[in-house]
Amino acid sequence: MKKTLKLTAITAMISATLGLSTFANAAIEIKAAFNQSDSHPQYEALQAFGQKLNEETDGRYKLSIYPNELLGDQRAALELVQNGAIQMAVVANPLIENYDATYRVIGMPYVYTGPEHQEKVFTSGALDELFASTNRFGFEVLTAYTAGARSMYTKNAPVNTVGDMQGNKIRVMQSETMIKMLSCMGGTGVPMSQGEVYTAIQQGVLDGAENNEITYADLKQYEVAPYFSSTRHLMVPDLVVISSYFINTMSKEDQETLRRLAKESTPEQFKIWNDRISAAMETAKAHGAKFNEVDITPFQENCQPLQQALTDSPAQKALFQKIAALQ
Ligand code: GCU
Repeated sequence: MKKTLKLTAITAMISATLGLSTFANAAIEIKAAFNQSDSHPQYEALQAFGQKLNEETDGRYKLSIYPNELLGDQRAALELVQNGAIQMAVVANPLIENYDATYRVIGMPYVYTGPEHQEKVFTSGALDELFASTNRFGFEVLTAYTAGARSMYTKNAPVNTVGDMQGNKIRVMQSETMIKMLSCMGGTGVPMSQGEVYTAIQQGVLDGAENNEITYADLKQYEVAPYFSSTRHLMVPDLVVISSYFINTMSKEDQETLRRLAKESTPEQFKIWNDRISAAMETAKAHGAKFNEVDITPFQENCQPLQQALTDSPAQKALFQKIAALQ
């Protein structure tokens, strides 16, 4: 009897060890490209998502996030996802607009009344159909993360009026809409990837850029463009995308777990984001940044014609109405 017990214990130990090593070997790596640092709120939200995915799939999947454009800028990363070379990426909405113009609506100037409205739009299911539709390009949008509100920041002087923007060369994300957006704000948009911005301002190729407070501080752009003028002209979503090829290699059950957990990470990400804004501003101020409030009405008026042009097709109109109804 004693012998049998001992044997059973040994067998259990061996199979536990074997089990563990099979577990470790079997974990399939999901590589995710991220263009900002590992202290960014989206990195943290993604990391928590990865941990839950690992637990809920009994260790079958393991998420590895590559920050700071290690896997390329957003445009390159999206192409890698599309052809299945990597599995996931976080990319700003303008990159996806280049594939499907309906996306322009969720990233156009002054479309959300504020963070609460944006969170409702992202978590209400209003975007589900749109997100699933990109499968035809080889990737699926799992969920949207907030990147706050974007404002202008400049090297030489603050921006208070549309006139102040005249002649300013401002970096924008890589899409037609972003170039047009910068014109309606009064300046000239220069499309460029995020990683090049700091040096371009420093060398005088640009007069400034536009982004949210967290990215401004995270990438230390206050060092080269100390005037942060709160125009809050855009609340562009960041989209968490996954390769269609890859997700189809997963069992139906694992696919559903992954989709659900990605959606659940969005309210969490909003929370981390909102908690970090003031600390980012303090960091920037401590390094000499000067923040000024701006009367946004003239900017909003100038951007009206662009808003109309971006809600022209039936699909864009329908989406715009869905968003407006959630105010
Ligand atoms: C924000 C956004 C990024 C984007 C960046 C940019 O930081 O979160 O996804 O890449 O702006 O301006 O390029």
